[in-house]
Amino acid sequence: MKLRSLLTSLSWMCLFLNTCQSREANDDKPNVVLIMVDDLGIGDLGCYGNGTMRTPHVDRLAREGVRLTQNIAAASMCTPSRSAFLTGRYPVRSGMVSDTEVRVITTLGDCSGLPLNETTFAALLKKQGYTTGLMGKWHQGLNCQSRSDHCHHPHNYGFDYFYGMPLSLTEPCWPDPSRDTELAIESKIWLCVQLVAIAVLTFTIGKLSCWVSVPWSLILSMVLFIFLLSYFWFSSYTSPLYWDCLLMRDHEITEQPMKAERAGSIMVKEAVSFLERNRKGPFLLFFSFLHVHTPLPTTTEFIGTSKHGLYGDHVQEMDSMLGKILDALDDFGLRDHTLVYFTSDHGGHLEARLGHAQLGGWNGIYKGGKGMGGWEGGIRVPGLVRWPGKLPAGKVIEEPTSLMDILPTVAALAGATVPQDRVIDGRDLMPLLRGDTQRSEHEFLFHYCGVYLHAVRWHPKDSEAVWKAHYVTPVFQPPGALACYETIFCQCSGKLVTSHNPPLLFDLSRDPSESTPLMRDTEPLYDLVIRTVAAAVKRHKESIKPIHQQLSGSREGKVWLKPCCGVFPFCLCDKEGNSSATSSSWEGTMESGRRNALSDTQGMNLRVNKLHYHLQLL
Ligand SMILES: *[C@@H]1O[C@H](CO)[C@@H](O)[C@H](O)[C@H]1NC(C)=O
Ligand SMILES: *[C@@H]1O[C@H](CO)[C@@H](O)[C@H](O)[C@H]1NC(C)=O
Ligand SMILES: *[C@@H]1O[C@H](CO)[C@@H](O)[C@H](O)[C@H]1NC(C)=O
Repeated sequence: MKLRSLLTSLSWMCLFLNTCQSREANDDKPNVVLIMVDDLGIGDLGCYGNGTMRTPHVDRLAREGVRLTQNIAAASMCTPSRSAFLTGRYPVRSGMVSDTEVRVITTLGDCSGLPLNETTFAALLKKQGYTTGLMGKWHQGLNCQSRSDHCHHPHNYGFDYFYGMPLSLTEPCWPDPSRDTELAIESKIWLCVQLVAIAVLTFTIGKLSCWVSVPWSLILSMVLFIFLLSYFWFSSYTSPLYWDCLLMRDHEITEQPMKAERAGSIMVKEAVSFLERNRKGPFLLFFSFLHVHTPLPTTTEFIGTSKHGLYGDHVQEMDSMLGKILDALDDFGLRDHTLVYFTSDHGGHLEARLGHAQLGGWNGIYKGGKGMGGWEGGIRVPGLVRWPGKLPAGKVIEEPTSLMDILPTVAALAGATVPQDRVIDGRDLMPLLRGDTQRSEHEFLFHYCGVYLHAVRWHPKDSEAVWKAHYVTPVFQPPGALACYETIFCQCSGKLVTSHNPPLLFDLSRDPSESTPLMRDTEPLYDLVIRTVAAAVKRHKESIKPIHQQLSGSREGKVWLKPCCGVFPFCLCDKEGNSSATSSSWEGTMESGRRNALSDTQGMNLRVNKLHYHLQLL
């Protein structure tokens, strides 16, 4: 009897403990929301010292969480930086690097992409029972062999749900509004009319030739006609607006071409409904903004709201969208149980300008920007981490951190182990964020430009110094400029770079703007630093296994890889219907938005470019 009651109470206790444990285990798995802005400069945000830009929601994250001031991207271009973010590894390890001028995936006709044996944070968390979603920009490839094999689709990298652009926003995605309505009709009609005409002509000639010999003029006009037809067909096939500016929901193309201006608000809706569906958690949401990349498609609501032209308006629109996501977290009671991380894939694009209007971001006191491998402005990005109750509010951490740290950090939070069969370059950030340790685990960080190592950062364990040695720097042009205005992007190799032997040396703790290189005669530690960094480079290079470089060599876009919504070659579609904005009001918004956004001189530029648009869009 006694034994029995003991057993019963024991089993009750077990049950109790069990439930406690499983509840705790659930509590141990926080939700994760990762927010990445495209091309945002560290100097564009209020909380990083911009007094004239209004970014209240980003600033709120800084107030309620930890602000990182030395948060470093692994590359200064989208595709490689995002590969590193997703995998926690330098892009040179996964082969997401290039030895040519083109360092990103530029078309959906490109078969390169993140290798399938790379493991993303999404895949790790999915295994731990997380529901995983990606909204927005992917830019890690799409097809391998046919227009719909989707071998590099986010689904194959651990994301359960995808809504967004498989590629990236580019200039043609927000076309000249006066052409827009015609376009949709035109391309379809043109093809139909010409196909019918050619059929009729062939038939007639066939008939005629039975009775009379066909006149040369008819044959000539036929040839001319076929030539024109193929010209129009070919140029429409190479038009990025149709073939690259498209949106997908999971495997379905929802808009081709996309309506760039309304994409952001659909993304926010998608994100909010994802949060609502998964409020029981645990979930991982990677919200990958199309903002603030050119051509800055902004809604009328935000045009003229900033002190910094169209670019400023667009940043403020991004901030307001962030606000909607943060509000949704509050509304669904998810706030205290969700880690929110906010960053940019790399620095602002200094060379993006139209006339005198700056269309790219501002990197504050840091030298250089997007596309420059070593200079701080290209790689030092915002980094905000909020987890109420678990992380201190309003804390500032000045130690070096990396975007590659996110994978090990969220893996640890979810109870996953990082892959053991490969080098992971990121480090778990939690001890540093919580204040358990004061020092970053990154003693060295390597700054690549494509496949080339341009600079190395050394933060010695026992000192406040942050040494940076530059082996290669880009040649700015025109002479005297602080960016590569003549080529839009700086180069990584060849004639437009300078090699430094001995390397240019700076101490960022004393000279964050990298303005005055240290000299051997005046810096007592000069030789020691150069030697130590060289030894670190040697060890690092030894740890890199040779691998197929996905982005190297010539990568012609292959026409048969380009996705098509509908029956080829009639690929136009808009399945979003009226769910987010009516198409007529969208066109109105876009047109007036564009008109207001561009000053007279810019408007003139636009008109000058119109012929170009016509040709390109046909
Ligand atoms: C704020 O950001 C804008 C837009 O990038 C930039 O033009 C301006 O110089 C920045 N201001 C400061 C004080 O950093
Ligand atoms: C992935 O596969 C490639 C090609 O077989 C190989 O070189 C690479 O080391 C593999 N990567 C990992 C992380 O296993
Ligand atoms: C979309 O909205 C427009 C204008 O409000 C309306 O005329 C049209 O019927 C709607 N279309 C659908 C499919 O709901």
